[in-house]
Amino acid sequence: MTEFWSLYVTVLTLGTIFALTWLLFATRKGQRSEQTDEKVGHAYDGIEEYDNPLPRWWFMLFVGTIIFALGYLVLYPGLGNWRGLLPGYEYLDTKDKTPFANGQTGWTGVHEWEKEMAKSDARFGPIFAKFAAMPIEEVAKDPQALKMGGRLFASNCSVCHGSDAKGAYGFPNLTDADWRWGGTPTDIKNSIMAGRHAVMPGWGEIIGEQGVSDVAAYVLTSLDGRKLPDTAKADPLKGQAIYATNCAVCHGPEGKGNPLMGAPNLTHPGAFIYGSSFAQLQQTIRYGRQGQMPAQAELQGNDKVHLLAAYVYSLSHPDEAKAAE
Ligand code: HEC
Ligand code: HEC
Repeated sequence: MTEFWSLYVTVLTLGTIFALTWLLFATRKGQRSEQTDEKVGHAYDGIEEYDNPLPRWWFMLFVGTIIFALGYLVLYPGLGNWRGLLPGYEYLDTKDKTPFANGQTGWTGVHEWEKEMAKSDARFGPIFAKFAAMPIEEVAKDPQALKMGGRLFASNCSVCHGSDAKGAYGFPNLTDADWRWGGTPTDIKNSIMAGRHAVMPGWGEIIGEQGVSDVAAYVLTSLDGRKLPDTAKADPLKGQAIYATNCAVCHGPEGKGNPLMGAPNLTHPGAFIYGSSFAQLQQTIRYGRQGQMPAQAELQGNDKVHLLAAYVYSLSHPDEAKAAE
């Protein structure tokens, strides 16, 4: 905030509190202090109001909120650039005076979060480090590691991949043998660390609407081995030619996919994340798709991602994890 806006906010906030205080005491002046039978004079649906002063305890509540507000504004940030005096937030680590990431002092939600993270890193860091030094396949057999990985997954990944990691529309299932970007421990860790950005171009304008239908029909019948809906006006044979010229570069001549660019295997319709009906295939091919897996390197750091990769790996290799128990 610039000096001007800081001052503006401060004057407005303190001014409002001051004005309310004045109003509270000004309206109290001149009021009778004893109870009365007189009515104020208005009636609503037969309900009338006595002309009595505010009860004392009620008045004190108002005074209390004003004192609370002033105390709050001294301790917490609220007045422009004022950082607040709440103790314990001068540094991230008060002992060796480590500053907060943004270089500021005082309480903020971010500082509170950073302090909690620093505390848990100090506590769990050595355990994470121990697992990070082990190969992912080994970590995937360790019950304690899987418990920790499962918790990390629940709080960071389940929003998209589901709490059972079985995926949802647009989000891949992580428990099966179908991998868009490869399923070795290293592939999985890379997917999580650096994220993935899939680019399936849209073909509607290039091959035309009939071309979209034909190639969708080819994927559905030849690659997937399913039956075309009776109403579909499409020629899978023409589609095959379109596939060979336009799609095979990425999805492979036999439709087995290419993990280098995240082009999925088109012979497993059960693993399609954008649906496998004729209409959904047309939609995907017509407009393209851009699935994005957000990178976790900065958010979680290597050691936590290592655990996450082991957890994800264990989901698709349940037998190995079982055998170790
Ligand atoms: C430049 C590489 C590339 C080309 C060329 C390409 N694709 Fe794709 N395709 C991809 C990628 C990458 C994805 C994954 C998109 C995502 O996950 O968001 C994909 C996804 C798909 C899907 C959706 C699968 C699912 O999980 O729902 C279908 C169907 C598909 N492609 C068919 C085709 C057809 C048919 C063609 C030719 C007309 C084609 N693709 C050409 C890269 C390509
Ligand atoms: C904002 C949603 C979102 C979140 C959060 C998310 N992912 Fe993903 N993830 C995706 C999408 C979308 C893809 C597929 C990208 C594509 O189209 O190829 C993906 C792909 C993956 C893949 C590659 C799958 C494959 O078939 O190769 C792995 C592994 C993965 N995610 C693990 C995780 C883990 C572990 C977390 C938690 C740290 C996580 N994801 C959090 C959206 C998300």
